[in-house]
Amino acid sequence: MSRQTGRTAVLVLAAGRGTRLKSDLPKALHPICGRPMLGHLLESASRVSKDLHVVAGYGYDQVRRAVGGRVKLVRQQQLLGSGHAVLCAGKVLKNYKTVVVLYCDTPLLRASTIEALVERRRSTGADCVLLSAELARPTGYGRILRSSDGSVRRIVEENDATEAERRVREINVGSYAFDGPKLWSALRRIERNPLKKEYYLTDAVGILASEGRVEAVVSSDAGEVLGANSRPELMALQAVCRRRLVEEHAERGVIFRDPDSAVLDADVRIGEGTVVHAFTVIEEGSVIGKGCSIGPFARIRGASRIADGATVGNFVEVVRSKVGGRSQAKHLSYLGDAVVGRDVNVGAGTITANYDGKSKHRTVIADGAQVGSGTVLVAPVRVGRRSRTGAGAVVTRGRHVPDGAVVAGVPARRLGR
Ligand code: UD1
Ligand code: CA
Repeated sequence: MSRQTGRTAVLVLAAGRGTRLKSDLPKALHPICGRPMLGHLLESASRVSKDLHVVAGYGYDQVRRAVGGRVKLVRQQQLLGSGHAVLCAGKVLKNYKTVVVLYCDTPLLRASTIEALVERRRSTGADCVLLSAELARPTGYGRILRSSDGSVRRIVEENDATEAERRVREINVGSYAFDGPKLWSALRRIERNPLKKEYYLTDAVGILASEGRVEAVVSSDAGEVLGANSRPELMALQAVCRRRLVEEHAERGVIFRDPDSAVLDADVRIGEGTVVHAFTVIEEGSVIGKGCSIGPFARIRGASRIADGATVGNFVEVVRSKVGGRSQAKHLSYLGDAVVGRDVNVGAGTITANYDGKSKHRTVIADGAQVGSGTVLVAPVRVGRRSRTGAGAVVTRGRHVPDGAVVAGVPARRLGR
């Protein structure tokens, strides 16, 4: 980094309640593809600066638990607006040359976009560089008003805009790179918005523009600029995020038979050459190896691990389980709290009865076992190496199948001894 850049801090505003989401969960913690909005944003922000700060207010303790130790938290006691929220961090951020401010409800912002804001400020020396976007339907957003020289003159909020201003389609995304000292000076001079009685960060932008220079970087990514203020908006963001995840995995060599129906959480991993068939859900930190076949209509969750070359087929659910290399569960099965070894065949309709009404128990199916169709494995139970169960067998709890044995019936008994 060049000398005049100095240090850059990122401040994420996450104190808002998100009244329009109609939920007690703080807005910042609403999940998009299994990850809280705040988590998405911090992930991108962490690639720009290691100095991450979050302003929390509503649901402060919940937010604190969610972010853990990776960020510094600032408390906003009274929710008096975005400008006030930033000012709450004035003390801790006073020594930073560049202060990036992001809103937690714009979670799909790309790291490269945040970098572009910082870079533009570095190259032009502007007091503020903000992110804007051209929207066909700008309703609800603050509008960017520009001067004749193309710089930003001010931002007008929808409520305060005139008819003509409302026709402006360039909107304020809510992502900014500020000159730190100038930001603090401007913030100390903003006044409460007469309509909403809040201190608007956007008013500080107007002050900076009148005393210096404010520029806008126009986003070319329709997804990253979307705000999540309501349930329908949250859904729209989820759709964008889902599509992005599918594309990122495809980029790394995953084959999607139907990219439109695959549902993935943000924290799953899938190996190269794995085929994901239609209507497949992979979630909660699950990891799929290389060259696997997953689905159609499969659900893998609870941080399950599927090793290379395995098949989890039609209507199979796998939860909190491991499936070893080249093993197959091709049809209509439930594997819960199971450890399945290598080269195992789990016959159609096999069920691990893992729950006795009070606790969950483990099932082990060792390497090379052949589990017959319709077997019920009542956990805790172990099915031995290279053993077999007959079709329809019910292996009762604790009645482990020895290595190499063949069992059948209800309850399952050993054959051929
Ligand atoms: C804001 C912008 C608007 C922009 C839009 C983009 C202002 C005044 N307006 O409007 O120009 O087009 O975002 O989505 O900034 N927050 C706090 N403490 C508060 C109030 C808000 O931390 O006291 C946080 C919220 O959690 C949120 C962010 O600030 O992350 C923005 O607040 P919000 O109420 O969502 O502003 P918008 O009306 O969406
Ligand atoms: Ca918002």
